[in-house]
Amino acid sequence: MTTTRVHIDPGFGVGEVNRRIFGTFVEHMGRCVYTGIYEPGHPTADEHGFRTDVAALVRELGATAVRYPGGNFVSNYRWEDGVGPLEQRPRNLDFAWRSVETNEVGTNEFLSWCSGVGLEPVMAVNLGTRGLAEAMEQLLYVNGEAGTRLPDMRASHGHPDPWKVGTWCLGNEMDGPWQMGHKTPAEYARLVAEVANAFHRFDENLSLVACGSSNRAMPTFGEWERVVLDAALDNVDLISAHAYYEPVDGDVVSFAACAEDMDRYIDQVVATADHVAAHHHSEKKVKVSFDEWNVWAQHRFAGENAIEVEHAPRLIEDAYTVTDAVVVGGLLITLLRHTDRVGLACQAQLVNVIAPIRTEPGGPAWRQTIFHPFALTARHARGRVLDLRTEGALIDTPAYGPVSQVWPVATWDEESGDLAIFLINRSLQAATTIALDLSRFGDLALVEHLVITDSDAVNSMAEPDRVVPRPGASRLDGRELSIEAPALSWHCLRLHRS
Ligand code: AHR
Repeated sequence: MTTTRVHIDPGFGVGEVNRRIFGTFVEHMGRCVYTGIYEPGHPTADEHGFRTDVAALVRELGATAVRYPGGNFVSNYRWEDGVGPLEQRPRNLDFAWRSVETNEVGTNEFLSWCSGVGLEPVMAVNLGTRGLAEAMEQLLYVNGEAGTRLPDMRASHGHPDPWKVGTWCLGNEMDGPWQMGHKTPAEYARLVAEVANAFHRFDENLSLVACGSSNRAMPTFGEWERVVLDAALDNVDLISAHAYYEPVDGDVVSFAACAEDMDRYIDQVVATADHVAAHHHSEKKVKVSFDEWNVWAQHRFAGENAIEVEHAPRLIEDAYTVTDAVVVGGLLITLLRHTDRVGLACQAQLVNVIAPIRTEPGGPAWRQTIFHPFALTARHARGRVLDLRTEGALIDTPAYGPVSQVWPVATWDEESGDLAIFLINRSLQAATTIALDLSRFGDLALVEHLVITDSDAVNSMAEPDRVVPRPGASRLDGRELSIEAPALSWHCLRLHRS
């Protein structure tokens, strides 16, 4: 058992909670779309074929934005094949996931679904097998006012009003050799500058995301961001970052602490962006779009070439443990701690494919363990993110060196008087007692303390609520809050001005 002191003061803040940190991602991959969000014939399907049981869970999850339609898929996507009369849409072979794409769900169906479930769509364009002309046409089809060919085509497809999609991702993981149309930093920089320039001629208010690195271990990491931003600084607002975590070679100690990696990753991308801005004598603060992040047991994935060609195969349907939920909670804490420079973040993905929500075709939908820290953080992180300081034990991790045992964040809503504290104890063995002096907040009452800990169970169709947040042990003694945090645990505490 160790002790930890967390210093907290409403006067020291990082910035307002950016609600777009609670984004998600829907890719035409595996069963995310087909038999995930969309399954005509399912007992809960609406008149458009979308599952209302899944829609209800998406609302409960509290996601705010959604990136679509990929991922690697977008790098060979023909958006035109997914619009217009259903019976005329082709069946294509998607080279990314070696799957049959029926195009039953395309731009208009997806964007209608987003308005229904209250998600802000973020669209990605294909800069792999396609380029500037096709991206411009897609933008016009989606956002153009009636009166010219492509917006009129959209109107003839039943959607007279522009969709007004405000954020566009210019390609996906273009630094990765696996990506169709993979490019060198200089090649991508040239292309992204051209596309961003054209997009802003159409609408200077569009927010554009350039591809950053596919992960921090990429050989071009750092240099890629520098070259891309050097070419496109004036026209892009965000640069992407992607990261998937798992215990590498069984190293669960580092896995439990991988929020540290995300933290350093964000710091390094921000430093690179600011360096480029300095070099350009610009005050611009390019933000990070952490538009793919999650736990993904990649060692269990046999690779694209092992995929049997079919429609909506079961791909990377990871069943998440309590440890995974603690890690996901920790990653959300990191994103919040960087609320000032993370402009968007999307957990990858939303349903079935490494997802918080699972479904069975014709059957139920359920919440995975990782659903809970996401939903509770999205619901209760309000107001300003506070800048906390932690004093306590360190853990020696093989991957990141010594890191603090407790990884916390807090949000304070001055107006409503709500204080929320999220933290993880990332030690595999040691419990800790965490003390916080809350005297700078005036009188508070403890409303709720929820914890996820205790076992490495998973939720399944048979036992959908095997893992749920349970009441935690904490005490508010006057203005001193003390929290009992068992080894490997995630916590959400809510206090209210009394
Ligand atoms: O989310 C799964 C895949 O991971 C995405 O398609 C790709 O962008 C990333 O490598």
